[in-house]
Amino acid sequence: IGDRNLLVVSNREPYQHRYRDDGDGDKRIVVDEPIGGLTAGLDRVMQRTGGTWIAWGDGDADPDVVNTANCVEVPPEDPQYTLKRVWLGEQEMREYYYGFSNQVLWPLCHDLVGKANFEGSFWQRYQAVNETFTDIVTDRADDDTVVWFQDYHLALAPRMAREELPEATFLQFWHIPWPAWDTFRVCPQRRELLEGLLGNDLLGFHIERYCQQFLDCVEGCLDDAVVDREAGTVHYDGRTTRVAAFPMNVDADRIERLSNTCDEDAWADFREQYGVGDDVKVAIGVERLDYTKGIPERLDALETFWDEHPEWRGELTYVQKASKSRIEIPEYQTLVETVHEKIAHLNDRFGTDDWTPVVYVDEMLSDEELYGLYRHSDLALVTPIRDGMNLVAKEYVAAQTGDAGVLLLSELAGADESLGGDALTVEPYDTAAFADQIVRALTMPTEERVRRMTSLRETVGTNDLEAWIGALFEAVREQSASTDGFE
Ligand code: G6P
Repeated sequence: IGDRNLLVVSNREPYQHRYRDDGDGDKRIVVDEPIGGLTAGLDRVMQRTGGTWIAWGDGDADPDVVNTANCVEVPPEDPQYTLKRVWLGEQEMREYYYGFSNQVLWPLCHDLVGKANFEGSFWQRYQAVNETFTDIVTDRADDDTVVWFQDYHLALAPRMAREELPEATFLQFWHIPWPAWDTFRVCPQRRELLEGLLGNDLLGFHIERYCQQFLDCVEGCLDDAVVDREAGTVHYDGRTTRVAAFPMNVDADRIERLSNTCDEDAWADFREQYGVGDDVKVAIGVERLDYTKGIPERLDALETFWDEHPEWRGELTYVQKASKSRIEIPEYQTLVETVHEKIAHLNDRFGTDDWTPVVYVDEMLSDEELYGLYRHSDLALVTPIRDGMNLVAKEYVAAQTGDAGVLLLSELAGADESLGGDALTVEPYDTAAFADQIVRALTMPTEERVRRMTSLRETVGTNDLEAWIGALFEAVREQSASTDGFE
């Protein structure tokens, strides 16, 4: 953003240092890139802009590779920016991360209030950790700094930091949905959360509907706030916050390039490794093991599909690439069990000596392998029961450089707004209709497949990560230029 200093602040860090045992008693340090759209997308942005990224250092080797200011230059193999690590203790992790962030805000924002757990200590700790992050920000920032907060872990920090830095520019991107007022009002701390976010100059959501729902919440909760729907602004407590939609995108060129490194031989090796026969079509699902992703619902639809269309037994294998996530939370443990049980049931019920209906991949794949998998799969089943955007849908499209595949996309994902017209739409809870869409995808004439994928690729190629960051930073520049308007 011109020559202004950029500070990105998020809970999750983009690189994590871990000790790995080599087996001979020696430990060596390896670097992992945590799974999730936020870190993957923003890392690419930071590699271009430079600056400092402040985040929780939760890798066991993280403390051993930082300098005295708790910083390390990243990416490790070709440093482009500074990662400053914040240390959180057990209690903080339990109550702020597993607690308020992921057992209150996550289910609430995904409209799954029944999964929320409003334990009192969660909130106290959430406030305290937001203060910890704020202190680090205010130490490193001045009024000329652009501070970019990320996501639902840090809803209070903008207002806290604003007290110290009245003139600095604050923006925040909310990577998950924003719920309707009737849902959000369930939260006892609704007022503090909204006030915290209104410490920003600019608040970004993936799609317009989330912006409108946020504005509904402001109107419902904060009597003194003045909402201007046309301008997309909230005037509150002497300041103005602009609220706007910036649908997040992917680095389409990079994905395309990497997917091309997986040639026919590499693909044949992959199939062999996982026991997928040569002539069998492949559908994929790629996600963290999260209850919002709709995996059990998808497995139910696959059961109906093989049940009612026996001609497809032995002809389609579903590859589920899954990564464990937030595993200390009971809801996530139950999900892992459910998914394993359902997969075992499907393989038991339909599997034969030379065909496995569902293949479960839980090992880490390199980007080349993952995008290669996308490139060669005939179908992608991206069917969350609620999702802010879902970047896997966009990645699948970007990787489709070969024979055109079909994207089946849930209408409950933010990505549906831009891709819904050319993807096959799925209602994840309508098992029978979902199964029919799988048949439709598998029997779709080549011409239609190519037409749909060409159009999807145009959308994803034009609206890439560069366009996303350009739009956001342009809005920030406009805000800064009209500072008077904020007062
Ligand atoms: C979603 C959230 C991110 C989060 C990611 C992975 O994409 O919006 O903030 O980083 O999930 O979840 P985790 O809890 O592992 O950071």
